[in-house]
Amino acid sequence: MASLTKNNSKMTEISEFVALTESKIRKDFENEGTGHDWWHIDRVRNIAVTIAKAENANIREAELGALLHDIADHKAHNNNLKAGPQATEIWLESIAAPEDLIKRMSALVSEISFKGAKVDTPVSSLETACVQDADRLDAIGALGIARAFSFGGAHSRLLHHPDFKPTQHESFSAYATDKGPTIAHFYEKLLLLKDRMQTKTGQRMAEQRHQFMEAYLEQFFAEWDGLR
Ligand code: ADP
Ligand code: NI
Repeated sequence: MASLTKNNSKMTEISEFVALTESKIRKDFENEGTGHDWWHIDRVRNIAVTIAKAENANIREAELGALLHDIADHKAHNNNLKAGPQATEIWLESIAAPEDLIKRMSALVSEISFKGAKVDTPVSSLETACVQDADRLDAIGALGIARAFSFGGAHSRLLHHPDFKPTQHESFSAYATDKGPTIAHFYEKLLLLKDRMQTKTGQRMAEQRHQFMEAYLEQFFAEWDGLR
């Protein structure tokens, strides 16, 4: 009887873990107002599924990874990068997900975050590549601009300071503790993402979003200088 239960739990369709995870994350993130709200997670899930289809990755694993990717973001946990993978393991164990899936999702969650201009963020699976690209696509373009200023407002940052020089951070701790103006963040992260896409599909999707940011910045500086 015990082994039957175990087999049954092993046989649980991944779509069931996706559904359970979706309702947990939706509830947990409903009231987040700093750019990590439920709709960020939902957009990342949709982009990750689009990329996974085009790249022949495991669609449901990319979807599950996208739903989990900000489960315990380092910024809310004293920049502790282990918080996310640990919370992933605890959650997936609580819904009796198989050990190998838990391992893959924990690794995926640990590999998503941007950690500074000069810090490599390699991925160890195609599904992680899909989710990392999706998360970064939601950080650029029209939505990325909105999220950056929303983050800046929530953290009382200046929009821009003409004397502030952006930094190409060499370490995660230098990046994570930087408190510069929001326009500097474009040069420290957002404009770098296009060339750091892991998949061909992500690269293609990043092009237009990148161009939109370039046009936005041109207009921003022209207005700043009173020229338009
Ligand atoms: P992601 O969810 O893409 O991993 P983060 O968790 O690093 O991104 O940040 C959430 C959002 O806030 C992103 O859109 C990111 O670009 C933005 N953000 C992070 N740090 C800053 C900053 N110093 N200034 C402005 N926006 C920021
Ligand atoms: Ni995210």
